[in-house]
Amino acid sequence: RHFANIPPGPKPWPVVGNFGGFIIPSFIQRRLGQRSESADVMKNALVILTEQANIYGNVYSLFVGSQLIVVLNGYEVVKDALSNHPEVFSDRPDIPAVTIMTKRKGIVFAPYGPIWKKQRKFCHTILRNFGLGKLSFEPCILQGLATIKTELLRQNETSGGAGVNLAPLISNAVSNVICSMILGQRFHHEDREFRTLLDLMERGLEICVNSPAVLINIFPLLYYLPFGVFKELRQVEGDITSFLKRIIAKHQETLDPENPRDLVDMYLMEMLAQQAAGEKDSSFTDDYLFYIVGDLFIAGTDTTTNSILWILLYMVLYPDIQDMVQAEIDEVVGRHRGPSMTDKGSLPFTEATIMEVQRLTVVVPLGIPHMASKTTVFRGHTIPKGTVILPNLWSVHRDPTLWEDPDGFNPARFLDDDGKLLRKECFIPFGIGRRVCMGEQLAKMELFLTVTSLLQAFKFRLPEGMPPPPLHGRFGLTLSPCPYTVCVSTRS
Ligand code: HEM
Repeated sequence: RHFANIPPGPKPWPVVGNFGGFIIPSFIQRRLGQRSESADVMKNALVILTEQANIYGNVYSLFVGSQLIVVLNGYEVVKDALSNHPEVFSDRPDIPAVTIMTKRKGIVFAPYGPIWKKQRKFCHTILRNFGLGKLSFEPCILQGLATIKTELLRQNETSGGAGVNLAPLISNAVSNVICSMILGQRFHHEDREFRTLLDLMERGLEICVNSPAVLINIFPLLYYLPFGVFKELRQVEGDITSFLKRIIAKHQETLDPENPRDLVDMYLMEMLAQQAAGEKDSSFTDDYLFYIVGDLFIAGTDTTTNSILWILLYMVLYPDIQDMVQAEIDEVVGRHRGPSMTDKGSLPFTEATIMEVQRLTVVVPLGIPHMASKTTVFRGHTIPKGTVILPNLWSVHRDPTLWEDPDGFNPARFLDDDGKLLRKECFIPFGIGRRVCMGEQLAKMELFLTVTSLLQAFKFRLPEGMPPPPLHGRFGLTLSPCPYTVCVSTRS
């Protein structure tokens, strides 16, 4: 009955639904060894998802298997659902592959309700307070940047002109910020334990997004198959679990309530405080802590790393904009000290450039799926309880009615006539509403400090004769740039 007035949409394939049209060709291409082509198929999926709105309207439906999905397109519709109707659209769906791994605990995939609210509030406060005082993020980010600079120069010299792949350097530094915040420890970029954790997480994500393991979402029992990527997925999951559980146990043994070292310590202290207060049904447990730690790693590393990689790629492709950013940094910061957060307000062109790259590349292009927690009528359509809601953030940032020449790269669109930064309501790469990104402030700090420090120190360019990588990127859990290398020269 509830399906009578659902939003219109394309006709689904039998059994697999509409995503058969995207995923199955992608697998066939992978089988044929056309790896980059498969990334193209996924990227095209993004463009196709946005174009469907021209046919069916800004609220349209799709099916994955028999699961109804409603795609929200354009700023007005996304805002209307997530900001104006938060009680209906702030839940998260039960996605079989994700539920198997997260047990719907933690923050990112936790159902909307009092437990999620308490956990998010507690972690958000810690994240905000980390920006201040002795646990400030800034020195931690700057420390990672010093390593990047040294390594970048070293690898540039030994590359024989082939250039340096920035991805591992940036990813290590970003992961180390999360490690410092959560686990109170930094790792040397060649540390075996640290590398193993990063490799495991990367492999786990790769399997979940870009292998037949996605079929677990349609046939959950596939997860238990004793061979292939299914077995490997369980192995990777087990290895990450024992790594994180070991670290949490070590924190429990060495906890000094007078001197909390990191988020894990503060969480353990909150657990003890709630026990002392006689809270019998407290959701603050070491089990929950484990999933929160995992969440922050997954949510805070790939997103920030890819955003930085995109910004540096655009700087290489638009050397005149790189020159303008460097001129602004030279004028405001000079060359005798490094940039700091206090410079942020005085570097509007640099900020506008970062925002413009974020707008064009939207690293979480479909947000994180939401779910309708009750049957509702939204914009004239019935949305049944349990419908998966995909906020198409990509469509918001390419909407020609909001952005002039939306496919063009033009940082000046974020500046007024006096060169001051313009805040645009429809710029929402971190999402909107009650589930808005919890790490937005930290991520912005990392983007600003990394971009200004690296551009102050180096001129970036593509290696001689190297064609630029295609700008469509690769769409997995996040949208990452296609692999590229850069040559750097020290700015005198
Ligand atoms: C959620 C973007 C960095 C933690 C999200 C969402 C987006 C997003 C679009 C989904 C919002 C929704 O569901 O409607 C980004 C971008 C980042 C970034 C573009 C970097 C440039 C970070 C960092 C952290 C973080 C550094 C933590 C340290 C989270 C968490 C959620 C989230 C915990 C889930 C919030 C909830 O469900 O209540 N992010 N994020 N993110 N992000 Fe980020």
